[in-house]
Amino acid sequence: MAVTQGDWAMGHISRRAMLAGTALTAGLARPAIARDVPLQVGTMLPFSGTYAALGENIFAALELAIAENGGKLGGRPVALIRLDDESDPAKAPANVNRLVERDNADVLVGTVHSGVVMALVQAAREHRIPLVIPNAGNVAATRDLCAPSVFRSSFSNWQPAYGMGRALAARGVKQAAWVTWDYAAGHESADGFRDGLRAGGAELTHTLTVPFPETNFQPVLAQIGGLGVEAVGAFFAGGGAIQFVKDYAASGLRDKIPLCGSGFLTEGVLKPQGAAADGIQTALHYGDGLDNPRNIAFRAAFKAKTGRDADVYAVQGYDAGQMLAAGLAGTQGDPVATQALAAAILATRIDSPRGAFTLSPSHNPVQTIWLREAKDGQNKVIGAAVKDLADPGTGCKMAGA
Ligand code: BEZ
Repeated sequence: MAVTQGDWAMGHISRRAMLAGTALTAGLARPAIARDVPLQVGTMLPFSGTYAALGENIFAALELAIAENGGKLGGRPVALIRLDDESDPAKAPANVNRLVERDNADVLVGTVHSGVVMALVQAAREHRIPLVIPNAGNVAATRDLCAPSVFRSSFSNWQPAYGMGRALAARGVKQAAWVTWDYAAGHESADGFRDGLRAGGAELTHTLTVPFPETNFQPVLAQIGGLGVEAVGAFFAGGGAIQFVKDYAASGLRDKIPLCGSGFLTEGVLKPQGAAADGIQTALHYGDGLDNPRNIAFRAAFKAKTGRDADVYAVQGYDAGQMLAAGLAGTQGDPVATQALAAAILATRIDSPRGAFTLSPSHNPVQTIWLREAKDGQNKVIGAAVKDLADPGTGCKMAGA
């Protein structure tokens, strides 16, 4: 496909035209992107299903970050496209195709579910479209499948669970089990939990699974009492986390075998969990009441915008906006200048409500994993489980790095 004058005049040169265009292959300089042409930001998030609340908070906080940046990214006005991925991996390729081919998205932001995000990663690699992942922790995105155009504002599934394993072992627990939905996020969290336990001389003895997004937990709860473990860690989030925590308490297990987990277990869901969540310790890169000016201002602004309390999902959406602002400022709004965009993001210390962070060479946040305890409707920070934790980034070979 040739790059036509019309493409440039529209300012919305299609990426395929751009990458296939003669201007590039002939080594000619590209004309500057028109500053007044809206940048199409394609968001793909769950706005329905068990992760709907997570998607809504990410989207609202992304809007907030863009508004605070004067409604622009890289000097260009922003058009936000909103697509509900339903946390359905089977629909992901068609949904991504809609954003890339039909909507001509210049940059992508998505998503929550580790299975769904792989279609976004594939598109970002293939079409060299900048992608910021505002939640999904699938380790491959910043390990084997790392790419100059793929960035994460959130975490790898390994990170929070590793922190939880380390904290448990430090407390003297020797044997623990992991309960999870049966998909990448849960299994990779189990790996982190295992590694954290091992680092402190303890072991993960059992992993029990429930199909995603099922919330009939009775079969696994019936097994836990007989495992002979001192603690149970869990990966559930959103609607599933509400149900699991309630069912765990109702089963009578809570007073016999303490429940802990990656922080998603109690994040953004403490109200509906009620007293069933009291005392549950989790590990996450965010906590309520983190006492830094950025967090205080962010929580107030998010509450004013949405009427809701901010949570880690909101923080990650906000930071996705901050990362895009930094990257596109470095390219004067050109989303196709992948290497310059990556260099600008990597050179920036993102001033996050979680505490400032930088990205690792594989484009995943290096961040403190906080130990929190659910109390009085808050995930209160009670200490650092691991300071400045980087995902190992195993297998990442960054092209052009
Ligand atoms: C995931 O699928 O990666 C995920 C979903 C919800 C919370 C955390 C991780």
